[in-house]
Amino acid sequence: MKEELLKIKDEAALNIDKAATSSELESIRVKYLGKKGSLTAILRGMGSLSAEERPAIGKLANEVRGKIENLLVQAEGRIKRAEKSEKLKKEVIDISIPGKEIRRGAKHPLTKVLDEVKDIFTGMGFSIVEGPEVELDYYNFEAMNIPKNHPARDVQDTFYINEDVVLRTHTSPVQARYMEKHKPPIRIIVPGRVYRSDTPDASHSPVFAQIEGLVVDEGITMGNLKGTLDVFAKRLFGEDTRTKFRPHHFNFTEPSAEVDVSCSVCKGKGCSVCKGTGWIEILGCGMVHVKVLENCGIDSKKYSGFAFGIGLDRIALIKYVIDDIRLFYENDIRFLRQF
Ligand code: PHE
Repeated sequence: MKEELLKIKDEAALNIDKAATSSELESIRVKYLGKKGSLTAILRGMGSLSAEERPAIGKLANEVRGKIENLLVQAEGRIKRAEKSEKLKKEVIDISIPGKEIRRGAKHPLTKVLDEVKDIFTGMGFSIVEGPEVELDYYNFEAMNIPKNHPARDVQDTFYINEDVVLRTHTSPVQARYMEKHKPPIRIIVPGRVYRSDTPDASHSPVFAQIEGLVVDEGITMGNLKGTLDVFAKRLFGEDTRTKFRPHHFNFTEPSAEVDVSCSVCKGKGCSVCKGTGWIEILGCGMVHVKVLENCGIDSKKYSGFAFGIGLDRIALIKYVIDDIRLFYENDIRFLRQF
């Protein structure tokens, strides 16, 4: 039994020495000192020894166990240190590697142009108002003097939600919403998205953006309208910009006009942006129709007003010399990052 104990001691010492990981060490501990371990087995068998043998063997067995436990503790320290330094080596951070580029977002070109337009009009005393994109047929059409079955509805191919609800085809319904709730003087612009069931191409998108303008007060004339839009065009496209008012028809204004600006790309000489004409149409406008004023509870004998609807996409296309409106709505990062 003595030989056996010494053999266990040497063998355990050797194994512990060779152990390289915590789990190896643990299985060694189990092998000798565990419930079914070889040293444990010997200690259990002590009962069969004679009374003379027992103290010496018992002492030796305890020594062997103490020795193995000691070696295990030492080995554990050694292995833990090794494992830790291995881990640190693996996790070392190479501060000489270049960092990952954090890509910054950019403002959408429509937002940038809108910011400019807002600045220009707030500078002239206008307030900014918004209205719903899902709109009642009443505000989109009826209040704007476009009755049911009127042919004017056809030029604005409408997305109907149901008989009474549409996706607004222009920002003009906000004129009516605002006039119903506010007494003149009124001076507002209304930026927003509008919808028409057009087939997308380079100059058409089923969703696009407008900026409505509305001024109502005593003694407002066409002269005020022309002056306001002329200042707007010059501020946005440059002081040398000229404006041209062409007679037009809208149900909600009388008289009505469309406004062209001299092409800011070629300065009016004619280029691909203005299709050789030197002029680009950017908005519709006119004096608010008496019926619209009355529909909204405004005394048309006392007050008059003008309104305009600017195509935001149009002016952004011109400002940035972009030739396809669809680019504004595709969210292609390669396009958007250029602004
Ligand atoms: N609502 C018109 C359109 O979408 C533009 C417009 C607005 C015209 C205000 C006159 C007055 O085409």
